[in-house]
Amino acid sequence: MNPCLRSIVRTACVCNAEIYGIRRGYEGLLDEDFYPGQNNTNVMGLRCVSGFSKIGGTVLRSSRSARFQTPEGQQQAAEILKKHQFDALITIGGNGTLKGAIDLARVWGGQVIGIPGTIDNDLYGTDFTIGFATAVYTAVDAVDKLRDTAGSHELMFFVEVMGRHCGDIALSTAIASGAEIACLPEVQESPEQIVKKLKKIREVGKTSVIAIVAEGDESGGAFAMQKMLKAAGNPYECRAVVLGHVLRGGSPVPADRVLASELGNFAVSAIIQGESGKMAGRIRGELVLTPLEDCVVKHRTIDKDQLRLLQIVAS
Ligand code: F6P
Repeated sequence: MNPCLRSIVRTACVCNAEIYGIRRGYEGLLDEDFYPGQNNTNVMGLRCVSGFSKIGGTVLRSSRSARFQTPEGQQQAAEILKKHQFDALITIGGNGTLKGAIDLARVWGGQVIGIPGTIDNDLYGTDFTIGFATAVYTAVDAVDKLRDTAGSHELMFFVEVMGRHCGDIALSTAIASGAEIACLPEVQESPEQIVKKLKKIREVGKTSVIAIVAEGDESGGAFAMQKMLKAAGNPYECRAVVLGHVLRGGSPVPADRVLASELGNFAVSAIIQGESGKMAGRIRGELVLTPLEDCVVKHRTIDKDQLRLLQIVAS
């Protein structure tokens, strides 16, 4: 999100637009909590975002706002935007952020453009969300280390990764780290079917196994999966690891920095061209705008080619 903010601020400056950063999302908007700008004002200038390309987390901070979810809170947020005479709002975040943008657009007359910022890669209207590539990089780095331990001790590891209801982080991590098994919310497999696979893997001589478990998978996570497979006759000795919030940190990888810079620049251009109620995304290399409603209602499906690929490379 930091490279995205840098791109938004610098594009706005080049276009002579005055730009403010609102901290802590909708909660911060209700508190009129602005990011410190230049010359003791809240107006952000070119130098306010220096060095942001490589900073992990979000300097604007983030929150889940219960107040904003009420009609009164949304009305109050609209009044604050009017009071400060803002013409447009750019929101960066996941499903909840986009839903908030839709709610706000109903009661506020300004332009609203969303940018997909979530590690989950679960939004319709873009091939990749900002943060996904970095989360996969971090997960693969961890799994590579676990594989060393698994190899040395002849173990099977269940590694749980985030992703809410979406298996994209798990699938990409599994392909990139050379995992044998991926348990995804989009694919139903019984413990017996997985154990059958494991017995085959054992027969062909694999002494260590990595299973990537998506947090949204029906199994209930890495520990539950370990138990279930043991009961179903898993031939391997096992350990479980939950990577959890580790995946949300770290300096963004170049692919995320480029995507974030592109989408930030594109969002400002869209506003200058009078667009509103849309999310900026990148599909097959093209920068596109998709109605916010579609982005929260429609769902991307798991990449079937990648699923097939995993089966082949994991064999
Ligand atoms: O949406 C991003 C995400 O990191 C999901 O992958 C995860 O399910 C959720 O947020 C965790 O949220 P919290 O930090 O509130 O537990």
